[in-house]
Amino acid sequence: MFEFYPQIKLVHIAAALSSGGFFGLRALALLAGMQWPRFAPVRYLSYTVDTVLLTAAFMLLTLLPRELYANGWLLVKLGLVASYVVLGILAFRPQRRTRTRAALVVAAGLCFLQVYCIARTHHPLGAFYLLMG
Ligand code: HEM
Repeated sequence: MFEFYPQIKLVHIAAALSSGGFFGLRALALLAGMQWPRFAPVRYLSYTVDTVLLTAAFMLLTLLPRELYANGWLLVKLGLVASYVVLGILAFRPQRRTRTRAALVVAAGLCFLQVYCIARTHHPLGAFYLLMG
């Protein structure tokens, strides 16, 4: 199974970037007053990308040694993934004021960015670790 590690990681990264990109696109369209981000096929496409993302994530988890997560980066990353999901759900709720929706979208986007940086650095501080050089 380990021989497929590069491919599984590639699928995970591609799905992660698609998930974040699609979320950003839908959020911007919703903020612009469009209706399509709430259409069922669009939501199902988003669930499909997230399912691929999670499946590849759990495959990576079973493949890699536990020592890789010793500094707690994966735990912090999972906490932020949960925050990203919750903020995203709240941002897409109907009857939100535009300002509240925009604040929720920005907060979700920052969580996503930090998740990405934590994954890349394998460090719980993620973006701050990069900024500290
Ligand atoms: C918004 C969601 C997520 C994003 C943006 C994301 C991003 C990434 C990226 C960019 C990498 C590659 C890191 C590198 O270059 O070494 C990665 C690896 C990884 N991710 Fe995620 N991920 C997400 C969700 C998850 C979840 C939910 C889990 C666990 C259940 C997970 C577990 C892992 C594991 C185990 C690796 C392998 C690290 C390695 O190969 O060294 N990810 N992730």
